[in-house]
Amino acid sequence: MHLNNDKEIVKIEQSRARLSELLKQKYPERKPVCYLHSYGCQQNVSDGEKLKGMLSEAGYDFCDTAENADLIILNTCAVRENAEDKIYGIIGEYKHLKNNNPELIIGICGCMAQESKTAERIKSTYKQVELVFGTFAYKQLFDMLYEVISNRRLVINQSEDDGNIIEGLSAVRTSSFSASVSVMYGCNNFCSYCIVPYVRGRERSRTPDAVYDEVSGLIKSGYKEIMLLGQNVNSYSYGFPQLLRKLNSIDGDFIIRFMSSHPKDASHELIDAIVECEKVAKCLHLPVQCGCNRILKEMNRRYTVEDYLEIVSYARSRITDFSFSTDIIVGFPGETYDEFCQTKELIKNVGYDNIFSFVYSKRSGTKAALMQDNISEKQKGLWLRELLMEQRETSQKLLSRFVGKTVRVLIDSDVSGKEGYVCGKNSEGIIVELMGSSELIGSFAQVKVIKAMNWALLGEIVI
Ligand code: 5AD
Ligand code: SF4
Repeated sequence: MHLNNDKEIVKIEQSRARLSELLKQKYPERKPVCYLHSYGCQQNVSDGEKLKGMLSEAGYDFCDTAENADLIILNTCAVRENAEDKIYGIIGEYKHLKNNNPELIIGICGCMAQESKTAERIKSTYKQVELVFGTFAYKQLFDMLYEVISNRRLVINQSEDDGNIIEGLSAVRTSSFSASVSVMYGCNNFCSYCIVPYVRGRERSRTPDAVYDEVSGLIKSGYKEIMLLGQNVNSYSYGFPQLLRKLNSIDGDFIIRFMSSHPKDASHELIDAIVECEKVAKCLHLPVQCGCNRILKEMNRRYTVEDYLEIVSYARSRITDFSFSTDIIVGFPGETYDEFCQTKELIKNVGYDNIFSFVYSKRSGTKAALMQDNISEKQKGLWLRELLMEQRETSQKLLSRFVGKTVRVLIDSDVSGKEGYVCGKNSEGIIVELMGSSELIGSFAQVKVIKAMNWALLGEIVI
């Protein structure tokens, strides 16, 4: 382990011991209970698991609702305005919990908590919140909690990145068969609409050995699906295709997925690695954002529709069935209806198995926030609906390609409202439902697809 890392770990351990002592004095009869909820992307969920790991080491237990907690932590998302509004709404509702139990600590962390405007608003309006810490402050978690518990004052920590990645902190993982593993943090791309580079800092990569060790450990303890995470895995410093090949060599029966990939540096080498590594899912989440070159330029995406289609066609020249999914932003400032129609055209051309589409949300501090925006929210909402209708038609046609085929599915849950059915994802990430008991959850099954439904497949298990 790196020397700096060892030193930091020793410091964190000392802070943990001090907090544990304090918690034992404060709660002599029982363990204190924490309700931690993560909103937003998988990176945030993964950060939440790490925070839980730290809190567990300090002596906290966890609960699923805020009502009886001693500590509430909301791990927030800042990517769109409605995500932020939701958090303020929830904090507002928690006021009565704080009134009933003055000992309760309410904290917010994550992307929104890294923004200075959030700290200001919390200070002035949400007195029930005593802890605000951003995306780089997790190393000081124990000290911050110690401070709040012993001095009962608002602690705000929006420290900037020191560039160090701490290895060796354990996580409390939600799933026992599917695990997220971060390979890099931050983003250098500054797409003009996006707040992420401002709240998550510059790119920094974990070493291939650190990632390899973590993944090997997870596979040894029975994990079946590894989701590699990064804002843009293609700029992983040590070469992402090489990392895929290295992880593919780990013994065991498991599937590797990853997200996200920036199209500007999605290379043939990446596609080759996906195609040639038998454990890597044959699909690529490649956020295109829109199908018009003028808007792509305004978005500072640094690729054209033609560049994008070249990658798609290369992938499909290697495997006909190569699956794509994407993110789309509708109603970027200045976008015209004709330009929006080019996005509809693109999604028809590519044939995505899944799209995640969003109405543009103005994020103050970004370049796009200064651009003239004449389209009404109502109009943007209508465009979004139009896009979804287009995608529904395309995806229904596409899903039927699986009918009659046998696919491998990692069963991950019961189907809610459908007694006796479970579901999971196939290699392409498409949901497959089948008749079966909950005991199948966490294992792979061979499933013959008998029907394509609107958004998922129906199949039966093949013995
Ligand atoms: N408004 C709407 N959608 C956004 N995204 C990022 N920033 C914004 C914004 N300001 C979307 C992009 C990105 C996904 C994670 O969130 O499509 O790929
Ligand atoms: Fe945001 Fe662009 Fe970075 Fe993705 S690549 S996190 S959209 S700035």
